[in-house]
Amino acid sequence: MSITPAFALPDFLYGTAWKEDRTPNLTELALRTGFRGIDTANQRRHYFEDGVGQGLAAAYRAGVVTRADLFLQTKFTYQPGQDHRLPYDPQASLSVQVEQSMASSLVHLGTDHVDSYVLHGPASNYDWTEDDAEVWHAMGKERDAGHTRFLGVSNVSLDHLLGMAATGAEFPAFVQNRCYARLGWDRAVRQFCTEHKIIYQGFSLLTANQEVVNHPLIATVATNANATPAQIIFSFARSIAMLPLTGTSDAKHMEQDLESQNLKLPAEAVKVIESLAG
Ligand SMILES: NC(=O)c1ccc[n+]([C@@H]2O[C@H](COP(=O)([O-])OP(=O)(O)OC[C@H]3O[C@@H](n4cnc5c(N)ncnc54)[C@H](OP(=O)(O)O)[C@@H]3O)[C@@H](O)[C@H]2O)c1
Repeated sequence: MSITPAFALPDFLYGTAWKEDRTPNLTELALRTGFRGIDTANQRRHYFEDGVGQGLAAAYRAGVVTRADLFLQTKFTYQPGQDHRLPYDPQASLSVQVEQSMASSLVHLGTDHVDSYVLHGPASNYDWTEDDAEVWHAMGKERDAGHTRFLGVSNVSLDHLLGMAATGAEFPAFVQNRCYARLGWDRAVRQFCTEHKIIYQGFSLLTANQEVVNHPLIATVATNANATPAQIIFSFARSIAMLPLTGTSDAKHMEQDLESQNLKLPAEAVKVIESLAG
């Protein structure tokens, strides 16, 4: 199965979390290495979105890419997920917070629109709440105003998605989740995504699944393909219709991660890896 979006989408997203002062240089390096999808969030606690914008600007100045070459994705984060450096007035309604967070993201990223705007995580770990419905509606208004092309949700369970569907809300274009091998690589959510033509973005593919990455079977598949175990995991992810993220800070790993796009895993290997529990 391969990802067949109705719009141009990169095969890999470069994640910018936890890079602090190195964010501008690493964002620029990722673009120079060939990444065309950038994932960030207006959540200063884990991301330096303004630094991402600095990296983009440096790449534009150097003629590496133009804005039109890129897929830029950022997120709205509820106050409990933030520290004191809020991108909105916490006294304002959630709808206004979405507006303010988006306006601030556009300034940080030096653009008049992003390609994808993602709800970083629902308000409750269990249900799709009225707060989520308000925020989702406000995000829809941002899309209608031309500030984003598509909408997404992150850190969601099947229950969240079913709850969202029950409100009659439009489905997201993207779901971005931490992908655990021990949950069948998030099988239930991926299945929902397939049924509703939602593109599943997987993060922590290496860090959440160390036992699988180090599994002898992966080593054998890697040797046969003349690739590294990390490349096998990313290639596997793509084989099951996932859009993978990598947050590597290493120049060589950036190259290897992108090169994994050229690997074609035998169907049997994909089946076996899918059944590996971490
Ligand atoms: N929505 C959310 O709540 C959420 C949460 C977490 C992350 N994210 C997004 O997802 C992005 C990626 O996060 P992540 O958790 O997947 O990854 P990550 O924590 O950034 O870490 C990737 C790890 O894999 C290693 N790695 C990458 N390529 C490798 C290779 N070819 N060979 C060996 N090791 C390799 C990296 O080491 P080196 O640096 O040494 O290469 C690093 O230790 C984040 O930056 C963020 O944008 C979103």
